[in-house]
Amino acid sequence: MTDFAALLERTLGPDLVVTGAAVPERAWSDWSGLPPVRPLALVRPRTTEDCAAAVRLCAEHGVPMVPQGGLTGLSGGAHPVAGCVALSLERMAAIEEIDTAMSTMTVGAGCVLSVAQEAARDAGLFLGLDLGARGSCSVGGNLATNAGGNRVIRYGMAREHVLGLEVVLADGTVVSSLNKMLKNNAGYDLKQMFIGSEGTLGIITRAVLRLQPAPGPAVSALCGLRDFDAVLTLLKAARAGLGTELTSFELMWPSFYDFMSKSLNLPRPLGSDHGIYVLIEASGLGDRQASEALEEVLGAALEDGILENAVLSKSEREAADLWAVRESPAHYSSVMGPLTPFDVGVPTALAGKVVAEAEAGLKARWPDAIALSYGHIGDSNLHLVVNIPSAGQDQPTKAVADYVYGVIRAAGGTVSAEHGIGVIKRGYLGYSRTPEELALMRRLKVAMDPQGILNPGKVL
Ligand code: LAC
Ligand code: ZN
Repeated sequence: MTDFAALLERTLGPDLVVTGAAVPERAWSDWSGLPPVRPLALVRPRTTEDCAAAVRLCAEHGVPMVPQGGLTGLSGGAHPVAGCVALSLERMAAIEEIDTAMSTMTVGAGCVLSVAQEAARDAGLFLGLDLGARGSCSVGGNLATNAGGNRVIRYGMAREHVLGLEVVLADGTVVSSLNKMLKNNAGYDLKQMFIGSEGTLGIITRAVLRLQPAPGPAVSALCGLRDFDAVLTLLKAARAGLGTELTSFELMWPSFYDFMSKSLNLPRPLGSDHGIYVLIEASGLGDRQASEALEEVLGAALEDGILENAVLSKSEREAADLWAVRESPAHYSSVMGPLTPFDVGVPTALAGKVVAEAEAGLKARWPDAIALSYGHIGDSNLHLVVNIPSAGQDQPTKAVADYVYGVIRAAGGTVSAEHGIGVIKRGYLGYSRTPEELALMRRLKVAMDPQGILNPGKVL
């Protein structure tokens, strides 16, 4: 055990600190696929004061700290760095309060997203933040990474769900800014500094989340279209016809839809092949079903020749069948070798061209390349996963990334839409940020964490 780990354990006590070989393997890595690194120690505070005490001690000794949430991030933001102390807020997971007059929920950062969602429902309200990892990711991690997901088109990114935060700064100072008011223009909006900063500027310990009126049952439609131009027309029609009832607009190119449905033997409810596939989800308020409005949009689109085919769900079971292929990325490891995954953004109108170029360019460079394209196209967010079967375990990750990010840069896109920068995309941040933007980010980092102990090497 290192001297510092021993000091940390003596100071905070063995209930809060495990050291050396006792640090559970789960804390050695996140889902980024980077090689595991064992932290010196793992601190699991029960209170904000515990957390602040740990940060103060690390600051006094110049020891780096890596905050960890549910560890489901793909960019390496929660991946340990050599010689670090890992900090898990899993014990600060309480739903502290639901204020129905303000329509807010106050939670500990370690609260699992699905637990917060359930608590909001039990109170007759709704938490609009939702993503695939809902059963294991934490609210603190969601906010630190400004997570996105499938309902951003309706409810916005994680940032839009936050009214207040409590954070621990790099010197151990606790800043409690647990505002509940929708309107609060009293000076700088400090919480925004921490949301999406991936634990590099402070550690989020508690949050006030904004809740929504509970929506009624969702209806989904799977649509088959000829090409991307038709998708753009359908997106405009869906926005205009459904307004705030439009909760998802997801796109799947045949590369993704065919490969995943065949590999996993999943239902193809349309029973026909198409140039491109769209999933629309709509939900009305209370008992009001959005199916009528959705049917109207789809009917008009069929008549105008925008749609080739569509199926509407009549039950939750049917909706699950429509979403089965879109939800299948959890099974990549069973159908593909090692992946190079992308989470990028491009201006929506260019997405069709960008995907065609990227898929063709990858196949020109690596003829056996498997490149699957899909995404949250209503939010200009594309996902692309790449595997070169002939490369086996030794994927040309850097060459693939250099190529794909080059295409995104040329299209004026962003190298991260919803997964953050972490370590994996750090070298490409300059593709979507100006030198002036980067310099300002560095000035903020130096001002808020002069010793560079908070999640070093991440983002910048
Ligand atoms: C998804 C994850 C990868 O949308 O963001 O499937
Ligand atoms: Zn996504």
